[in-house]
Amino acid sequence: MHVFVTGASGWIGSATVTELINAGHRVTGLARSEAAAGRVAALGASVLRGTIDDPELLHAGAAAAEGVIHLGYNHDFTRMADAAATDRRAIEALGAGLEGTGRPLLIASGVFGIAPGKVITEQDAPAGPGHPRQENAQVALTLADRGVRPLIARFAPTVHGPGDYGFTSILARIAKDTGVSAYVGDGANHWPAVHVRDAATLIRLAIEQAPAGTILHAVAEEGIRSRDIAEAIGRALEVPVRSFPDSAADEHFGWVGRMFATDARASSEATQRLLGWKPAHPTLLEDLAAGHYVA
Ligand SMILES: NC(=O)c1ccc[n+]([C@@H]2O[C@H](COP(=O)([O-])OP(=O)(O)OC[C@H]3O[C@@H](n4cnc5c(N)ncnc54)[C@H](OP(=O)(O)O)[C@@H]3O)[C@@H](O)[C@H]2O)c1
Repeated sequence: MHVFVTGASGWIGSATVTELINAGHRVTGLARSEAAAGRVAALGASVLRGTIDDPELLHAGAAAAEGVIHLGYNHDFTRMADAAATDRRAIEALGAGLEGTGRPLLIASGVFGIAPGKVITEQDAPAGPGHPRQENAQVALTLADRGVRPLIARFAPTVHGPGDYGFTSILARIAKDTGVSAYVGDGANHWPAVHVRDAATLIRLAIEQAPAGTILHAVAEEGIRSRDIAEAIGRALEVPVRSFPDSAADEHFGWVGRMFATDARASSEATQRLLGWKPAHPTLLEDLAAGHYVA
């Protein structure tokens, strides 16, 4: 299959490009800079230069492909509403490029905010108004009515592995900078996790096999206590571990504090059954113990 991948130069995107090429697929990756184009080409993909802010380019990229994986996202957390609006326009443009073909469009989403207080399953619909990113998943699902095969991949909040620069690396950097690895309150809240290479395998299996409208959970571990994550970071960095009250979390962690204090547990039973997907790579605590977050 010829697959068009946005975010091909990113953390999950580059693992996905490698996974696709190793499985015999042909990939065109979107790249917005010379540096990103170099990274994508080095993975063995063709490069389409441009941005996720350009609907015409996205439409053309999708129309020229047999499937689309949309992983590009602007992670400037000071401009979350703008990022979600751009994402929505990108999904609409990519969907229009595939209209009437029955070809897959997989978009990235997350598990936060869907059904607090329970283990989220693939049967739980995306969260509604007030959650613009979740609303984008609803928009993608409606593309099934226009002859597209939309797929939603809800990633665990930490997609980890060697070279990770996401949430776990931010927590590790804060611990290093402050000399203390912290958790909020009793640290009994949970974070699901998945290894980046397992996530990439799931994405490939999904575009190969999953029917229109499938919600998939890229989750290998249902929930790890935040206290256990903080303790593993403390051991890896050889810094003390302590609890911060809710009121001091923002000051210690900055914007990531609110997320680290969130309780989210998610199952991937249905995804594993549907795709025959079996996470095979190290767990988050194993990656932390292996020292991948020390540098
Ligand atoms: N990593 C996680 O733990 C996690 C968890 C839940 C959900 N997700 C979601 O999964 C998807 C992939 O995440 P990731 O961790 O791989 O993110 P990432 O490493 O930050 O990669 C983002 C990608 O988007 C590209 N991009 C950003 N703005 C762009 C623009 N205006 N035009 C073109 N390309 C642009 C980046 O290009 P450059 O290389 O040029 O910067 C990069 O390739 C995202 O939607 C993310 O929100 C990730």
